[in-house]
Amino acid sequence: MQDQRLKIAIQKSGRLSEPSIGLLRKCDITFDNGAGKLRSTAYDFPLEILFLRDDDIPQYIEDGVAHAGIVGQNILAESDCELEPVESLGFGRCRLSLAIPRGFEYAGVEDIADKRIATSYPKILKAFLSEKGINADIHAISGSVEIAPGIGVADAICDLVSSGSTLLTNGLREVETILQSEAMLVARRGLDGPVKEILSRLLFRVRSVNAARDNKYILLNAPNHKIAEIRNLLPGMKSPTVMPLAISGWSSVHSVISEHDFWNVVEQLKAAGAEGILVLSIDQMIL
Ligand code: PRP
Ligand code: ZN
Repeated sequence: MQDQRLKIAIQKSGRLSEPSIGLLRKCDITFDNGAGKLRSTAYDFPLEILFLRDDDIPQYIEDGVAHAGIVGQNILAESDCELEPVESLGFGRCRLSLAIPRGFEYAGVEDIADKRIATSYPKILKAFLSEKGINADIHAISGSVEIAPGIGVADAICDLVSSGSTLLTNGLREVETILQSEAMLVARRGLDGPVKEILSRLLFRVRSVNAARDNKYILLNAPNHKIAEIRNLLPGMKSPTVMPLAISGWSSVHSVISEHDFWNVVEQLKAAGAEGILVLSIDQMIL
């Protein structure tokens, strides 16, 4: 069949929208996403993007409206849909937590026994409470959970926390973390044929973009008698590239280092005699 496209669902508006669009763009996929657009066809990749409410994404994938999606692990854990986890994406990090009003005396999770807890995550909360052997009244609501204690409809809440500012402005205090979450690329189970192949091509680009994000390219000069020590600090992809400089006794060393600890590595390199250190961002890193 010609003209097959992979249909991918992403969040229409919310925490994951911008980074999801940004990831596709970094994969060099071009598309329009004007305000209010519900679907968009990419110009240069066989992809159709559907802009949906995040809570609905798992169901749309299971029903076959979309083949794949970008959604938070929180939404997946709450959903009854059985989807294929494809790749953790490293953005949209947050946690699902239990929070109580500041005046509430809390020594441990036993203190919420028989209390009313408002949440949009009744399934996850129920599993958490039963694991702890606690009975409480779960009050399932679909939004604005954080105002429930203030208006007297609940004693506590179970909701997503990212920066913590929503809790703070509503006079709430986080007391238990129930689930850690980040954005995931997921797909319908048992995809096959051209659509599966397109998903593999997309995944290849996603991995290259994320590897590039997590790494830096480093160049430095060093006297030749220091190269052995410097090499030990630079694992590189296979091994660092070492090239002679125009002045004798010196070399230029090129390598790739992890973004996470590059300041530590740079300090050690300097101490080991490296000079003229340059650290550059990488656009794509093909694994
Ligand atoms: C969550 C949650 C809070 C807010 C917490 O909603 O319901 O309102 O984020 O973030 P903060 O700790 O940075 O203040 P979110 O917009 O993620 O999603 P939802 O509307 O899909 O539930
Ligand atoms: Zn939502």
